[in-house]
Amino acid sequence: MHSDTVIEAHKAVLSKVKAECPHVLVFAQLAHAGMMGHAMKMMMQKGADPASVPEGVCCTPLTMDSPKEELDELPAAFAAAAVRAIECGYDGVQIHSGHGYLLASSLSPTMNTRTDEYKAGPELLYRVIRAVKDAVPDRYPVACKMNCTDNTPAGEWMGRKYAAGTTPQMGAASAAKIAPMLCLLELTGGLAGYPTCVDGTARKGVKRQGFYYAEAAKLVREAVGKDLVLAGTGGFRTMEHIDSATVDGPLDMVAPSRPFLRTPTWLCDLEDSGAPSKCISCNGCFAARGTCVVRQKLQAIGKE
Ligand SMILES: Cc1cc2nc3c(=O)[nH]c(=O)nc-3n(C[C@H](O)[C@H](O)[C@H](O)COP(=O)(O)O)c2cc1C
Ligand code: SF4
Repeated sequence: MHSDTVIEAHKAVLSKVKAECPHVLVFAQLAHAGMMGHAMKMMMQKGADPASVPEGVCCTPLTMDSPKEELDELPAAFAAAAVRAIECGYDGVQIHSGHGYLLASSLSPTMNTRTDEYKAGPELLYRVIRAVKDAVPDRYPVACKMNCTDNTPAGEWMGRKYAAGTTPQMGAASAAKIAPMLCLLELTGGLAGYPTCVDGTARKGVKRQGFYYAEAAKLVREAVGKDLVLAGTGGFRTMEHIDSATVDGPLDMVAPSRPFLRTPTWLCDLEDSGAPSKCISCNGCFAARGTCVVRQKLQAIGKE
């Protein structure tokens, strides 16, 4: 959504989605990749020798190490993207501040070592959401997906020491600052590339299931009050998991992801028979760009 050139393509996709599901509201997720858009840094992060990074893979990144004047331009860029989203026909926008992308990195002491007004905390995210709200009509829905915890202890990597990431307490304080501007806040966690993974466990650790961000979500609910719609992602595989977060927990709704890659009809199966998701949280779909490798293998041998 960074340029007017993408509008026609979004309109074409959206019109097909709306034709199939006219009752569904579709939000555009607006993100700046930050360091994750910087191929050189990402490859180094994954352990590559800088000398082995091929020429031409480096781009000009905007990261939390960039000059302040460049970060100052970000709110207006997000606002322009939100206006394009309206032109495309999206029913709302969601600002992505999770998983180590630029806005999540602005919250995180692991990725943000600045000492100026953009020091680790919600200031940049606040200004981005404020600019978006000012640019769109009053009642146009603006949501945010935010890391409520980075699950990243202090460590050392490629010879560089880094600080512990956003804690649930910090996540709750950030949520309180942005909540008055939002129609919905979706909680997530983890910093891609650092020794955590999407489910907050060590990359080589046990793949967990269940409500990953229960502790942080409870603190966020206390911080934002009862009126903001709170959604949560991460680990929901059974109706019990979902109930523990909603009926008995602080969330209003859940936003599963990998269960639908594993079984696109999972929601119907859950409603019909209470069937748990067959997703084993192996994370194979990340490397396979969204394809469930387990389903693919089972289909290849005729077992699914
Ligand atoms: C292949 C893949 C792509 C994803 N892409 C996005 C994305 O573009 N934006 C986003 O906010 N989350 C993205 N996610 C994260 C999910 O929305 C979700 O937060 C995460 O997978 C944890 O939830 P789960 O346990 O239900 O999968 C992606 C996840 C997967 C597996
Ligand atoms: S690849 Fe693994 S984590 Fe991804 S959807 Fe399939 S079973 Fe789930």
